[in-house]
Parts: sequence; structure tokens; C-alpha cells
Amino acid sequence: MPKVKFLPSGTEIEVDEGYNLLDAALDNDVQIDHNCGGNCACSTCHVIIEEGIDSLEEKSEDEIDMLDEAEGLTKNSRLACQCEITKDMVVKVPSQESDFQDDTF
Ligand code: FES
Repeated sequence: MPKVKFLPSGTEIEVDEGYNLLDAALDNDVQIDHNCGGNCACSTCHVIIEEGIDSLEEKSEDEIDMLDEAEGLTKNSRLACQCEITKDMVVKVPSQESDFQDDTF
């Protein structure tokens, strides 16, 4: 079974092959925003694939369009709801990082 490690939390999970990355995170208490409910109609589920990007399918036109709206876009940026897990991955959740910074309030 593929393993996925989420950063910055360090949460590591094992999931069935073909599992959706957003669902895998949410099912394991890793918070990723998902304003459109996983329908590729927002950019709130933006994640950065630190390892394992080659195992993912190419981005669809819709995903590319939505990613353009994402903050802090990188060449390894993806929408978690559009990713199917097939191999081990390390995934950075940028929204979690900014949540941590917001803790100072
Ligand atoms: S949850 Fe909206 S695009 Fe993924």
C-alpha cells in the first residue's frame, strides 16, 4: 500500500492504491480546505507534491485553470482532490502552514 506523508504536520498514512489524495487527508484528520467539495472548481485544496509527483496523472485543463488562482504556486503544485495516489508521496499542505502562522493571534 502506498504511504503518504503530510507536511508540516508529519502525519504519515497508508492508503489503498487509487485513493483520492484529498479524501485520504480528510479521513486521517489532516486538514486540507476543500471549498468546492472536491469538484475542481476552486483552488483551496492546493498542495505541493514534495516527492512522488511523477506517479500522478497529468493535470487536466480544469485543474491547470484552477491552480492559476492558488497562492504560492510552484511547479509541483496540484489540487489534492484531483490526485489519485498510486505510489509513496510527500505532500506539503500550504494552508496548514499559514494556519500555524495565524496561531500568533
Ligand atoms: S476542493 Fe475545490 S478544487 Fe479541490
